[in-house]
Amino acid sequence: MTILLTGGAGYIGSHTCLELLRAGHQVVVVDNLSNSHAKALDRVRKLAGKDLVFHREDLRDALAMERIFSTADITAVIHFAALKAVGESVQKPLLYWDNNVTGTLVLLEQMEKAGVRTMVFSSSCTVYGDPASVPIREDFPLSAVNPYGMTKLTCERILGDIYRGDPAWNVALLRYFNPVGADPSGEIGEDPNGIPSNLVPYITQVAIGKHPEVLVYGNDYPTPDGTGVRDFIHVTDLSIGHLRALERLEACPGFLVCNLGTGRGYSVLEMIKAMEQASGRKIPYRIAPRRSGDVAEAWADPSRARAELGWSATRGLDQMCEDAWNWQVKNPEGYGGGS
Ligand code: UD1
Repeated sequence: MTILLTGGAGYIGSHTCLELLRAGHQVVVVDNLSNSHAKALDRVRKLAGKDLVFHREDLRDALAMERIFSTADITAVIHFAALKAVGESVQKPLLYWDNNVTGTLVLLEQMEKAGVRTMVFSSSCTVYGDPASVPIREDFPLSAVNPYGMTKLTCERILGDIYRGDPAWNVALLRYFNPVGADPSGEIGEDPNGIPSNLVPYITQVAIGKHPEVLVYGNDYPTPDGTGVRDFIHVTDLSIGHLRALERLEACPGFLVCNLGTGRGYSVLEMIKAMEQASGRKIPYRIAPRRSGDVAEAWADPSRARAELGWSATRGLDQMCEDAWNWQVKNPEGYGGGS
C-alpha cells in the first residue's frame, strides 16, 4: 500500500513511518515542520534502508494537497498532523481550531476529490474528559475540557458524520493513551519544542541535567501513592497499532474506534523510579500543587483493540524508560544537535 502520513515527521509519525517502511509499504509524508524536523525522516530512511517521499506543506493549503494526491496513488491516509499542547490551546484557541480542524477538513475534501476513502485518525484519550471510572472503554461518555481536546473530539465527530453520509469511507479512530519511549536505535524520538510539558521528556531532561528537578503535580490524588496514574505506552507499540488498523480496514471495511493503551497504569513516582533505574542516575523531584485540568488516573481497557485489530502492547515500562533514555543520551539537543 502507499500510505500518506500527515505529520509524518513528528514523534509518533516518524515511528509509524519506520514501521510502515519495515512492513514493505510505500510512504508519502506531508508535514509543515512546525513542531518537527526533516532530520527525523532522514534517520527513518537510514534505519529502514528505504526511501520515502516528503512534501513540506501545510494541510490547509488545498492546492498543495491536491497536487500531492495527484502525484501518488495513495491507498490510505494516517492523519497525525495537529498541535497538541493543552496549555497553548487555552491561550491560542483559534490557532488550534484552524490548524487541527480546518486542516482536517481540507485534507478530507482532498481525499474525497482523489477518491481516497480510508483514514486512520490520531485521536487521544483526552476525548474521555474526566472519566467516571477506570479502565476506560470506548463506549464511555465523551467530553473535552480544553480547546485541544475539543478539536480532537470535533474531528472524531466529522469523521463519524462522513462515514454515516457515505459508508464507502473506512475510518479508524485511534485513541492514544500516553505515548513514551523511542525506537531502540536511539535515532528517532520525542523532541519537544522548548520546555517539555509532558512527564517523560521532562524526567529525561532532569536526568541529563537540563533542569534541577521534576515537579510532581500533586500527591493527594485518590491513587495508591497519591500521584497521577497514566497508561504509558511505548511509541513502537503504538505505531504498530496503526499498521494493524490499516490491515483491519482493508480486510473488513467500516468504522472503528479503538483505545491504544497497555491496560496498566503507573504513577508519576513509579515512572521517576523506573527512569532512575534505566538511567542509573538519581532524579530529584519535588511535590508541587496539582496541575489544573489533570485527572487522577486514566488507563485503557485495551480489549477492543485486541479483539478487532489483533493488537496489544508488548513493551513494558523498563523498555519504555531504557529507550527514552537512550534517545535522550544520544541526542541531548534533540534533532537540533548532531548529524
Ligand atoms: C497530556 C494532555 C493530554 C494529551 C497528552 C499528549 C494535559 C492535561 N493532558 O496528557 O490531553 O493528549 O498530554 O501527550 O495536559 N506530570 C508531573 N510533572 C510534570 C509533567 C507531568 O507530575 O512535569 C504528571 C501529570 O500531572 C500527570 C502525568 O504526569 O499526572 C502525565 O502528564 P503528561 O505527560 O503531561 O500527560 P497527560 O496530562 O496525561
